[in-house]
Amino acid sequence: MGVNFFNLKMKTYLLLIPIAFVFACSNISKNDKQKVDADSIKKVDYSPKNASCAKPIKDPNNPKPMALMMRMMADNADSMKVQLLRGEKLESSHYPFLRFYLLEPTDTSVLKLQFFENARLFQESYNNLFKNSNQKQMYNVVIGKCINCHEMYCNGPLKRIRKMFIDM
Ligand code: HEC
Repeated sequence: MGVNFFNLKMKTYLLLIPIAFVFACSNISKNDKQKVDADSIKKVDYSPKNASCAKPIKDPNNPKPMALMMRMMADNADSMKVQLLRGEKLESSHYPFLRFYLLEPTDTSVLKLQFFENARLFQESYNNLFKNSNQKQMYNVVIGKCINCHEMYCNGPLKRIRKMFIDM
């Protein structure tokens, strides 16, 4: 009697193991699938696969730190343009360089060598902006660097960024 009961219990457990396994796997595979998808994009396709880049102005529900910093950069560029059009001088203390490339992006597949090279070129022109005597011209160079990177990694905001140029 005791032995039969034990067997019954064991059978139930044995039955539960594969069921638990199936559940565990279906949970994992959801996350893994996204990772695999991101991996397969990495090699060939630089175009934006994430909501943030596709619809930059409409708030994605959970913006990643890099997206949030990009919004600050865009707001800063807008206010730089206003200042320059007023004939004011831009001070670096007002616009410290934001290290966006250290932050987590919506789509981690952008974190490629070329992305960091674009970031470096952007930072170089950004630093020059505050040393340059013709800040309007240098500001346009900076906006050009925003665009260079966005043409490769994040097309959505291009329309907004192109409007940041100052007509000379
Ligand atoms: C080195 C590449 C690179 C440079 C340079 C760059 N960006 Fe971005 N930008 C990105 C990437 C990648 C994203 C997507 C970030 C994310 O979704 O986490 C992004 C996102 C954005 C967004 C959308 C943010 C949102 O609401 O989701 C705006 C707007 C933006 N960038 C503006 C700018 C402006 C303006 C500049 C220049 C002053 C600039 N970017 C420079 C790569 C770059």
